[in-house]
Amino acid sequence: MGTIVVVGTQWGDEGKGKITDILAEKAGLVVRFQGGNNAGHTIVIEDKTYKLHLIPSGVFNPGTISIIGNGLVIDPEVLINEIKGLEIQGIDTSCIKISDRAHVIMPYHRRLDTLEEEKRQIKIGTTKRGIGPAYFDKISRTGIRIGELINPEEFSLRLKTVLESKNEIFEKIYGVESMNFEEIFEEYSQYALLLKDKVADTSILIDQAVEQGESVLFEGAQGVMLDIDHGTYPFVTSSNPTAGAVCVGAGIGPGRIDKVVGVVKAYTTRVGEGPFSTELFGELADSLREAGGEYGTTTGRPRRIGWMDAVVMRHARRLNALTHLAITKLDVLSGLPTVKICTGYELDGKVIKEWPASLGVLEKCKPIYEEMEGWTQDLSKIDRYEDFPPQAIAYVKRIEELANVPVSIVSVGPGRNQTKFLEEISF
Ligand code: GDP
Ligand code: IMO
Ligand code: MG
Repeated sequence: MGTIVVVGTQWGDEGKGKITDILAEKAGLVVRFQGGNNAGHTIVIEDKTYKLHLIPSGVFNPGTISIIGNGLVIDPEVLINEIKGLEIQGIDTSCIKISDRAHVIMPYHRRLDTLEEEKRQIKIGTTKRGIGPAYFDKISRTGIRIGELINPEEFSLRLKTVLESKNEIFEKIYGVESMNFEEIFEEYSQYALLLKDKVADTSILIDQAVEQGESVLFEGAQGVMLDIDHGTYPFVTSSNPTAGAVCVGAGIGPGRIDKVVGVVKAYTTRVGEGPFSTELFGELADSLREAGGEYGTTTGRPRRIGWMDAVVMRHARRLNALTHLAITKLDVLSGLPTVKICTGYELDGKVIKEWPASLGVLEKCKPIYEEMEGWTQDLSKIDRYEDFPPQAIAYVKRIEELANVPVSIVSVGPGRNQTKFLEEISF
């Protein structure tokens, strides 16, 4: 009984999907609360690999209700294909519920995402899934919500008005063809029919579950450094991947949150453009990329690689009030003679420990590294954490100290059984 939030503490792809799947074993409900299909969460169960973009990673636990909360932007075609894909593999999808207040990603959002990115002098490197333009419409009150999509009259009326202004933008600003109302209306009405039965007021479902003593797990997408407020703006996504967003994005009050698990990769990766203080280049980056399979789950782009950054970890601890850490991919660092952790930045002869808001200031910051002894053993094959080489244990301890959050999970492979619980994380 209780609630746990899982969030990414770096630039996404920390292994949130894997950790969510494991914690979901004891959850009655698993809820996504922000983002969209820019997310790519990988879950490995025995010899099968599943990649989810919109459906919560708890869906593999029979009986668990999977909720797609109001804070998401949903591409209905992607969601339908994801549901079909799971069904083909024998996964029960009858427990999926979609918030009537979530916003719909429309074809003009995807098109605008590409056009805007092409026009930008300095690229963000978005996933081109229409995420930014859909959130833009939500905030400017011209979005279409799932509840409207499944009501043909309302949908027709909303689409007509919105499409008119989008077509003006396409023709006058970008000089491209306008989009056809009938085509979009017809296509999206089909999606509405397929999704209708899953649509609900999900805030009520979550509230009832908590009242009845059920355990609820909230699964974040992206990571704190991609947060629209607290990340490396403007090189961020258009939502808040931090724990505070659970309240608005799932429709619950702050008092409902009990624990927050920060997922942290044993090194750092980033996809897309933007600052990355501890970034590595050359052979070392390439070998870690290969060892860690660091290619985007959603776009397949090679991920940028760097050392662990404790400045980022402190930022993540404070903004999420982290109660536990789950370190993933420790196995990938095996074989390095030494490993480095950035403990702070040097700025004009002074040491700074907190992430600066200004990218101009950040550019002048030089990472200060602490170098630790590496280890050679293959961690993925060691059963007990106590039997890990002392250098690997020392590395975990140092992250715990610098982040000032207890490490409760150490993951050494994509599989469920490659997970060491240093302490239980109970609901
Ligand atoms: P998410 O977006 O945070 O869910 O992470 P992704 O699924 O995009 O990327 C994490 C990748 O690392 C996936 O391919 C996982 O299967 C894999 N993974 C997760 N934990 C571990 C681990 O401890 N070791 C290794 N080698 N791979 C892991
Ligand atoms: P998960 O949940 C890593 C990045 C994109 C780009 C920026 C903005 O799998 O950790 P967007 O399409 O959101 O407007 O792109 O954010 N990005 C991610 N990077 N993991 C993700 O999700 C991401 N979702 C978005 O690469 O730099
Ligand atoms: Mg991912």
